[in-house]
Amino acid sequence: MSSPLAQPAWKKLQAIYDDYGKSYSTRDAFAKDSSRFDTFSTTFENYDGSKILFDFSKNLIDESILSTLFELAKECNVEQLRDDMFAGKHINTTEDRAVYHVALRNRSLKAMYVDNVNVSPEVDSVLQHMKEFSELVRSGEWKGYTGKEITDIVNIGIGGSDLGPVMVTEALKPYAHPRLNVHFVSNVDGTHIAETLKKCDAETTLFLIASKTFTTAETCANANTAKNWFLQRAKEQSHIAKHFVALSTNASEVAKFGIDTKNMFGFENWVGGRYSVWSAIGLSVCLYIGYENFDQFLKGGEAVDNHFVNAPIEKNIPFIGGLLTIWYNNFHKAQTKLVAPFDQYLHRFPAYLQQLSMESNGKSVSKDSKFVNYETGIVMFGEPTTNAQHSFFQLVHQGTKLIPTDFILAAKSHNPIEGNLHQRMLASNFFAQAESLMLGKTKEEVEAEGTSASLTPHKMFSGNRPTTSILAQQITPATLGSLIAYYEHVTFVEGAIWGINSFDQWGVELGKSLAKVILKELDADKDVETHDASTKNLINQFKAWA
Ligand SMILES: *[C@@H]1O[C@H](CO)[C@@H](O)[C@H](O)[C@H]1NC(C)=O
Ligand SMILES: *[C@@H]1O[C@H](CO)[C@@H](O)[C@H](O)[C@H]1NC(C)=O
Ligand SMILES: *[C@@H]1O[C@H](CO)[C@@H](O)[C@H](O)[C@H]1NC(C)=O
Repeated sequence: MSSPLAQPAWKKLQAIYDDYGKSYSTRDAFAKDSSRFDTFSTTFENYDGSKILFDFSKNLIDESILSTLFELAKECNVEQLRDDMFAGKHINTTEDRAVYHVALRNRSLKAMYVDNVNVSPEVDSVLQHMKEFSELVRSGEWKGYTGKEITDIVNIGIGGSDLGPVMVTEALKPYAHPRLNVHFVSNVDGTHIAETLKKCDAETTLFLIASKTFTTAETCANANTAKNWFLQRAKEQSHIAKHFVALSTNASEVAKFGIDTKNMFGFENWVGGRYSVWSAIGLSVCLYIGYENFDQFLKGGEAVDNHFVNAPIEKNIPFIGGLLTIWYNNFHKAQTKLVAPFDQYLHRFPAYLQQLSMESNGKSVSKDSKFVNYETGIVMFGEPTTNAQHSFFQLVHQGTKLIPTDFILAAKSHNPIEGNLHQRMLASNFFAQAESLMLGKTKEEVEAEGTSASLTPHKMFSGNRPTTSILAQQITPATLGSLIAYYEHVTFVEGAIWGINSFDQWGVELGKSLAKVILKELDADKDVETHDASTKNLINQFKAWA
């Protein structure tokens, strides 16, 4: 494959950027073109009839920029790569694997093939297993070792086995079973498990150990600590079966741990960690909100898949989202992207997207094993707003960096308290932030307020700071599924243009393997003599102080 820089559309985009793109003014564009909103916004209709409005019109684009971006997508064969993913082909090139998490939410129950094997029956049987198990726990039929119902679920996992379930259970809290609390332990820092166990009663706690191989160092350490805590109370080894289940494929290790392999929920090697919330890794979600809601979550994802596969590029929402990243990152030289949900339940959504985006596209080698000479993955960050307005929004409005931003709001709150006053205040900020980032405040406007000459520049806002506003009707399981799938495909389009493998993550390995060596050194009595001088002295000081 050739570098995106070699594509005719890339050169055209560079010419547009140099010509007028870099100083393109959305403020002027809105003033001139009364149909701008209609041209650059689009409404996604979900499978259940609910809608999500994507307003791209406050971005630094006109029709010719956007159509050249579409040309670029065509020249980079993004559609072909997409079709390959949906056909279960081995697009995870460095490891020669399929990337087929979309099969987990394909509820058509038709045959789906990976390496000539129909994976549909397996996908469905794991879902059926999740359904049965979650119904037993939720109904109270499933009892702990003293005959009590389960009240607390502790998911022990890390990375994709943690971020997805944490984010989704938080986002869908209004749908939770009233008897159930969920807890997540990921950090190997003993504080995380210790503080969590303080809140739990061994008689009524169910642990989910989430590790595909059952060998993940942090997860195994936390799982063993949980088991020891449990056994100190329950005494009998055989009680483990009532209180521990595994989200794993390693039957022998699971059995060794003491878990009944009947209570093991598997997933295939074509499910990457950061896409695994749709798989058995979503069991905590399914327990918490129930199978019906989990099914709607899957269907919301599937609906976006259908759109991504079938809509022409020009009307394809994830294509537009992904191509905007290219425009800002590679032409405007933006380094970051901000995702700001105006929704307290979505408070872990930015963290989730951080993994999705940065683990996928933080690469500097292309699929043909060459170091790239252009920018790839963006630094993704975010926080629930309006809190963020009182911290880093200063820089977004008046700093020297261009920070393309997504704002997310649901029209209907799950908590319309005080006559919905809170929701109206929240929404007013959603509209005001996007509008003010776009319009800014000119010298004349500041001066008209009678501001002194020396203060005037401080109160000016350059404006023209791009935002995409995503307005949903309500954060339901289906809407959340759609939003996640949207960002997955945005990430996909970005990586496809950059020509990198968005599906591996070699970058997490080096530090991990070095940590294993250092762990042994920490256990030894004597000072270390190896490493660079900085690392050596830090280790020895730690040993002296620990
Ligand atoms: C199961 O765990 C063992 C022991 O760590 C490991 O050697 C083996 O590769 C694992 N198998 C699978 C299927 O993950
Ligand atoms: C791609 O392959 C790598 C390396 O085996 C694996 O860790 C990763 O999970 C795979 N990604 C997907 C999306 O399947
Ligand atoms: C679901 O799978 C069926 C059968 O392979 C396929 O025809 C359909 O396009 C898939 N849907 C999506 C959204 O991938």
